[in-house]
Amino acid sequence: MMCLPASPPALRMCLGLGLLVLLCLGIGQALEKKVVRSKAGEKASLPCCHEIPSSESLHKYRVYWQKNVTDVVLAYSEGKVISQHERYQNRTEMDPWNLTLWISPVEILDNGSYQCVVQRNSVLVCSESVILSVTADFSKPNITAEVTADSCESTEMVITCSSHGGFPKATLSGALNNMSMEWNASWVSESSFSPYNVTGKRVLNVTKDVTITCSVEYSGFATSTSLLLKKTNNCVVPPAPLPYNVITASIIIVITFILAITLAARYLPRHVCSRCCNHQDSVEEGVKEHTKAPMSYKVTAETSSV
Ligand SMILES: *[C@@H]1O[C@H](CO)[C@@H](O)[C@H](O)[C@H]1NC(C)=O
Ligand SMILES: *[C@@H]1O[C@H](CO)[C@@H](O)[C@H](O)[C@H]1NC(C)=O
Ligand SMILES: *[C@@H]1O[C@H](CO)[C@@H](O)[C@H](O)[C@H]1NC(C)=O
Ligand SMILES: *[C@@H]1O[C@H](CO)[C@@H](O)[C@H](O)[C@H]1NC(C)=O
Ligand SMILES: *[C@@H]1O[C@H](CO)[C@@H](O)[C@H](O)[C@H]1NC(C)=O
Ligand SMILES: *[C@@H]1O[C@H](CO)[C@@H](O)[C@H](O)[C@H]1NC(C)=O
Ligand SMILES: *[C@@H]1O[C@H](CO)[C@@H](O)[C@H](O)[C@H]1NC(C)=O
Ligand SMILES: *[C@@H]1O[C@H](CO)[C@@H](O)[C@H](O)[C@H]1NC(C)=O
Ligand SMILES: *[C@@H]1O[C@H](CO)[C@@H](O)[C@H](O)[C@H]1NC(C)=O
Repeated sequence: MMCLPASPPALRMCLGLGLLVLLCLGIGQALEKKVVRSKAGEKASLPCCHEIPSSESLHKYRVYWQKNVTDVVLAYSEGKVISQHERYQNRTEMDPWNLTLWISPVEILDNGSYQCVVQRNSVLVCSESVILSVTADFSKPNITAEVTADSCESTEMVITCSSHGGFPKATLSGALNNMSMEWNASWVSESSFSPYNVTGKRVLNVTKDVTITCSVEYSGFATSTSLLLKKTNNCVVPPAPLPYNVITASIIIVITFILAITLAARYLPRHVCSRCCNHQDSVEEGVKEHTKAPMSYKVTAETSSV
């Protein structure tokens, strides 16, 4: 559109570029297969390459949904099912207009490459592949710690992280106080198309409280759990109460001391004054001298002078 007002050579270049872009798009589409992701037990919809116009119907078409080139999952001819794979019986449906294949519930075995082939009056209309990638969720990892040796300096523990029922085979990763950590992982599965159970083990010497994390990653999904491991045996007789007792004791001593001072301040001046009261002048001097002293002292001095 932008090319239209340009001179003929520029127009030709533009057309050439356009063709190149179209070619590249075509190649890109051929190389990049469609991928449909689905979880085991859910419903998957695999798109086909043709939509039947509303003026026609499925009766004029033959549609093959195949898996891995060899297995016919579902085939239609003249509007009727002509073939259906036993494993997919009662689990598949095809949309009669856009030919989308529905699989429900999806099984792990359904993972793989599917092809949709459409013929109209025995002439190929289109054929396209779509990959169905099936995953199953691993359970949230369960971390357990078993103390094997305990001393004042360290606690030796066997840490186990386990997760089950997932697909495909997961990788385990971990962290110890947010530092990356390896698990010694092992997997079990009944077959290569069955859910996996994964177990990770580690022996740790814990010298202080640490947080351990276990993450299970599979096909772009991840689930993880963290656990705080406490250093159990600290070998200090009464660990926490000691400073508390010291504080309490200090407070009692301070209060006793303040009481003693107060009592002394209350009774001592009387003794002192009763001795010096004989001379009025000296008392007046004493009052003058202590005008800067705290009120309580002044009051006691005045009352004693009466
Ligand atoms: C096909 O049609 C169904 C409804 O009939 C719709 O849900 C689905 O999204 C359509 N798929 C495509 C690829 O157009
Ligand atoms: C088709 O299935 C066979 C065995 O079932 C397997 O060896 C082969 O790799 C599969 N091909 C594709 C393209 O998935
Ligand atoms: C499919 O459903 C029909 C009728 O409900 C049943 O007779 C048949 O055994 C089912 N097939 C499978 C493979 O489950
Ligand atoms: C699922 O199928 C795809 C496509 O055929 C294949 O690349 C992938 O390896 C399969 N996954 C598993 C776990 O077999
Ligand atoms: C974690 O594993 C322990 C021991 O195997 C078990 O007793 C506990 O119930 C499990 N916890 C969860 C949440 O699965
Ligand atoms: C470690 O923790 C700090 C803060 O708690 C965070 O900012 C940092 O990203 C963490 N590092 C790793 C490797 O997880
Ligand atoms: C991992 O476990 C295997 C088998 O239990 C054992 O032989 C191996 O020594 C362990 N590796 C580490 C690093 O703990
Ligand atoms: C995986 O773990 C689950 C639950 O703990 C258990 O029922 C199942 O038998 C295990 N599968 C295998 C293959 O060990
Ligand atoms: C843990 O520490 C104890 C001594 O405190 C030592 O005997 C043991 O080998 C250590 N274990 C590991 C896995 O470092």
